[in-house]
Amino acid sequence: MLIPNYYEDITKLHIHTCAQHNYFIPFSDGKQALAAKNRQESPVFFDLNGNWQFSYYSSIQEILSANIAELETMHHHEIPVPSTWQTQGYDQQMYTNIRYPIPFDPPYVPVDNPVGLYTRTFVLSQEQLSSNDWHLFFEGVDSCHYVWINQTLVGYSQVSHAISEFDLTDYLKVGENVLSVLVLKWCDGTYFEDQDKFRQSGIFRPVYLLGRAKQRVNHYLIHQDYDYHKKQAVVQIEIVDQSAKVDFEYALFDEEGTLQSKGTDYQFILNNIHEWTAETPYLYRLLLRFGHEWICEKIGFRKFELDVKQGLRINGKTLKLHGVNQHDSWPDTGASVSMERHRQDLLLMKEHHINAIRTSHYPKSPEFYQLCDELGFYVLNEADVEIHGVVTLYDVGGDDNYNMIANDSNYEQVIIDRVSSSIVPFRNVTSIFMWSMGNESGFGKNFEKALSVAYELDPVRFRHYEGYFHAYKDHDNEDKYLSVYSRMYPTLKESEQDYLISPKKPYILCEYSHAMGNGPGDLAAYDELMEKYPAFIGGFIWEWCDHAVILGYDKQNKPQFGYGGDSGEEIHDGNFCMDGLVYPDRQVHVGLLDFKHLHRPIRAKIEQNDLVLENVRAFTTYTDENLAVKLIWQLNGQKVTQNELSIQEIKPNSKIKCPLVVPDVQEGLLQLLVVTFHPETKQVYAREQLTLKQQQLQLPTWVCSKTSSDIWRIQENHQKYQLQSEKLSVVFDRLTGQLTTYVVNSKTKISGSRWLIWRAPIDNDRSVKESWYQAGFHQLCPRVYETKLVQKTPQQVEITVKSSLTPIYRQRVVELLTTWTFYCDGRISIHTKAQRNCQMPSFPRFGLELKVQPDTSQVRYLGNGPTENYQDKQLASYFADFQTTIEDLYEPYIKPQENGSHGNTYALSIGNKVQVQAYANQPFSFNISDYSVEQLSNVQHRHELVKEAYPYLIIDSHHAGVGSNSCGPVLDERYQINQQELDFEITLQL
Ligand code: GAL
Ligand code: MG
Repeated sequence: MLIPNYYEDITKLHIHTCAQHNYFIPFSDGKQALAAKNRQESPVFFDLNGNWQFSYYSSIQEILSANIAELETMHHHEIPVPSTWQTQGYDQQMYTNIRYPIPFDPPYVPVDNPVGLYTRTFVLSQEQLSSNDWHLFFEGVDSCHYVWINQTLVGYSQVSHAISEFDLTDYLKVGENVLSVLVLKWCDGTYFEDQDKFRQSGIFRPVYLLGRAKQRVNHYLIHQDYDYHKKQAVVQIEIVDQSAKVDFEYALFDEEGTLQSKGTDYQFILNNIHEWTAETPYLYRLLLRFGHEWICEKIGFRKFELDVKQGLRINGKTLKLHGVNQHDSWPDTGASVSMERHRQDLLLMKEHHINAIRTSHYPKSPEFYQLCDELGFYVLNEADVEIHGVVTLYDVGGDDNYNMIANDSNYEQVIIDRVSSSIVPFRNVTSIFMWSMGNESGFGKNFEKALSVAYELDPVRFRHYEGYFHAYKDHDNEDKYLSVYSRMYPTLKESEQDYLISPKKPYILCEYSHAMGNGPGDLAAYDELMEKYPAFIGGFIWEWCDHAVILGYDKQNKPQFGYGGDSGEEIHDGNFCMDGLVYPDRQVHVGLLDFKHLHRPIRAKIEQNDLVLENVRAFTTYTDENLAVKLIWQLNGQKVTQNELSIQEIKPNSKIKCPLVVPDVQEGLLQLLVVTFHPETKQVYAREQLTLKQQQLQLPTWVCSKTSSDIWRIQENHQKYQLQSEKLSVVFDRLTGQLTTYVVNSKTKISGSRWLIWRAPIDNDRSVKESWYQAGFHQLCPRVYETKLVQKTPQQVEITVKSSLTPIYRQRVVELLTTWTFYCDGRISIHTKAQRNCQMPSFPRFGLELKVQPDTSQVRYLGNGPTENYQDKQLASYFADFQTTIEDLYEPYIKPQENGSHGNTYALSIGNKVQVQAYANQPFSFNISDYSVEQLSNVQHRHELVKEAYPYLIIDSHHAGVGSNSCGPVLDERYQINQQELDFEITLQL
C-alpha cells in the first residue's frame, strides 16, 4: 500500500509532525534579522514555493498499490505552489454552503477520493546539513497530506488551515533531495471543515524549509502587561520548549530604530510607551537571541479590557468593533491568496473605516497577522471548525441535531486539536484580541472543553463562540470561559430584549447585515443599537468579498464571474457566495460606501453660525498636516463656491468650531458639503451634507418649460385617443389606459408605458419574493373600466382612466384613478390615486415605466447620488445636480437584480437635447436602464444581459427598502410599502 489509511481515522490526526509552537523565523545574525523586509531574507529560510511536478488522479484507487518511487517518475505536468487544483484546471469547482459535499459517513470519505501528487527537489550542502536541523513547513493544505523525502514516508497531517511542520533532519542527504507530497481531497477532517465556500484542494499556502540550530528554543511566549495609566509595560519572555538551554539576550527598538532597552533578563520594564491601537499601529521591534538564532518580533503595546458594564476597551478607551468577516477568496486563485493581495484588501478596508476582522472561518497564514499588526486591525481569530452539515441530515431534526458531534466525546480531540492550532502559533500577535472556537458547529461538552483549553493557553485574551446559542435547553451548559454572547443575524428587537436590556455578558454580532447583492440596508439601525448599549461591543458584517469562479472572458478580456452550479456541480448553493462588500475583483459595492459613511471619523454639523467638526476617533489627532477639509457650497444642488478650511487641530474624541461665512446667494436650498480627504491616500475620507436654510428648492433651469400656441386636434374610437398638434402626435390606448406613442416632430420619444409594481428581485427579496410571485406581481394585467377625454382648453386635454391591475387567477392588486393631462407645449402631467389591496403582500415598488427613445445616454438629475440609493441604503449618497450616463447608472451585480435607483429626485433629463424630463413637487425615485425589469429578473449572470434597443425609464413614487433579509431579519416595516393609498404625481416635458 502506498500509504496507511490515516485519512479516515480520527485517532491519527498528525503523524510525525513537530509540536505546535509560536510562529517565528530565525536569522543567523541580529542586524540581518532587524533589517529584513521579509522572511525570504533569512539565510535559513528555504522557499519551496514555485512550480512542482504534479499528477492529478481522480481517484486514489488508481495509485494505492503503486509505490512512491514509481509515481514520482510518472509526472507529466507542473503546478504552481501555492495554488488550488480547481483553479489550475483539475477536478471541478464546487460551491456548497451547509450541505456536506460528500455522503455523511464519518470518518469515511468517498472511495474515489481525488488526489494530487506533488514532487520537487531541493539541494542542501554538507555545510547546511551539518550546521542545522531542517524543518519543513506547510501553512495550508486542503484537506490532508502525506510527505515523503527521498522515497521515505515522513509523516501525515490534516486541518486545512493549520501549520504543519516536519523535522526532516534524519531523512536528508547532501545534494539533491526529492520531496513528494500526496494531497487528498477528502479526509475525516472534511466533516469539520464544512465552511460556506468553494471547496478547493491542494497546497494552497506557502511551503518552506527552515534551518534550525541544533540547540534551540522551539517555543516561546512574549507576555506583555501594559499599564496605560503609567504608559509602562512589563515584558516577559517565557520559554515554553527548548531542545537545550541556550543563552539569551534581547534588544528593543522603537519604530524609529532607537534602542529602548536591552539585556539578558527574561523580564524587563519599559516606560514612556508609545502604544498600539488599530488607529495608531505603532510597532516596536524586539530582537531576541536564543543561542545562535536571532529573531525579530514586531510588537505593539496595548491592553484590551472587557466587561458587561463598560464593554470593550483598548488602552482605557471604549472600542466598538466595526468589523467584517473575511474569507480567503479570489476568483483566479481561489483560497490561495498572496500577501500582496491581502495587503490590498486590508488597505481597502482601512480606506472604508473597517477596524476589525473576524477570520471567518479559519486562521490565516502567519504573515497575514503581521499585516494586521502593521496596518492596524482588531482581529477575532477563528479556529478551523465548522460542522454545519449535521443539520441537513435526513429527518433528525434540523437545527435540533446541531450538537451531534459537538457533544460526542469521540470527537473531543479533533476539536481541541483544531482550536489549539488556531491559538498556539499566534499568541504573540498584537492585533488578536479574541479567539473564536469555530463556526456553526453546535454546542456540547467538546466545546466546553475547547473553551477551557483556550483559556489555559491564553488566559489574557477573550474567547468567543457563537455556537453557544445552540446549547442544550434545560441543561447546565458551562459558559464560564465564554467572554461574550454572540449571535448572527438576529433582529434588533431580539438583540435588545435578550442580550442588552439586562446583559449578562458583553454582546457581539459575529455576523450581521448580510451584504448579498443590493444591500445591506440596515447598517445604521444596528449601529444605533451598538452606540446605545455599552455591553454591545460591535459586530462583523457578513462578508468582505463576493466569492466567484471565472467562467470565461469577454471581448475586453474582462473575467466573467460565476458561482455555485456554474461548474456542473450537482449539489450547490447558487449565488449565496456572492455576499460581499466588494465584487470578486474588489470593485467596491455601494454597501461598503454606506459603511464608510456610517463610520466616518470626522462628523460635521452646523450650530448657530458655526460649523462644528467632531473627531470621533479615540487616538487620532487631526491637523492640517494629515487632514484636508474642503467646503463646497451648493445652491439647489449646484456648486456655487468652495473653499478650504484650516482646522489647526482636532484632538481625539473632541470637537472644534469654525465660524461659517455663508455665501450671499439668492433664494433656494443652500447646502454645504463638507468633504475631508484621507491623510495618506488623498481619497475622500468623509463627506457630509448639511442644509443651511430650508427654503423652497428652485428647480434648475435645465428643466425648461416651453411655450406653444398650437392647439390639439382630437380623434377617438373605442380603442384609442389620438391627439395631434403641429409638432406633437400622441396615441393613447383606451384599453390599457396607457400611452402608446408620443411623437415630437416625427421623432418618437416614448413608445409605451405601464404601471409597475414589480422590481427585479434583489437577493434580499429572497423570501418575500415568493409571496410576490404568489400574488402575481410579475404578471399584472391592466383592466380599464372607464376612460374619459375632456378638452379643457384648446391647448390642454385631460384623459381620466379608471383601472385596476389584476394578475392571472388572483384578485385585484391595486385600483387606480389616473388623470393624464396633455399640453401642446410638450408637457404631460400624470396624477394617480391608487388603492392598494391590503390582502396582498407589501409592494416592491409603485411606479410608471416608460419606454423612452433618447438620442444619447446622457442623464442629468437633481436628486440623491452619485451612488444608487434606497430608503434604507442612502448613507453614501448626497443631494446634488448630477450628470452621468445610463451605463454609469447601472450597478453590475454579478447576478442581475434591481439596481441603480436614485431617490429624492426633483428633476431628471435624459438625452442630449433634454428629451424627457420629469419633475414634481414631491421627489420621486427613478431607474433608467438598458435592461428591462424582466431581463434583470430572469438572467443569471451579468455577462448574459443583452442591451435592449431603447432604455426603460421607471419613475417610482414608492420604492421599498433593501434590508438584509438574504440571511438577516425581514425588511423593517418602515421601509415596506404596505399603506393602502398610494399617490403618484409627475410631469414630463418632451
Ligand atoms: C452564516 C455562516 C456563514 C455564511 C452566512 C451566509 O450562517 O456562518 O458562513 O454561511 O451565514 O452567507
Ligand atoms: Mg455554515
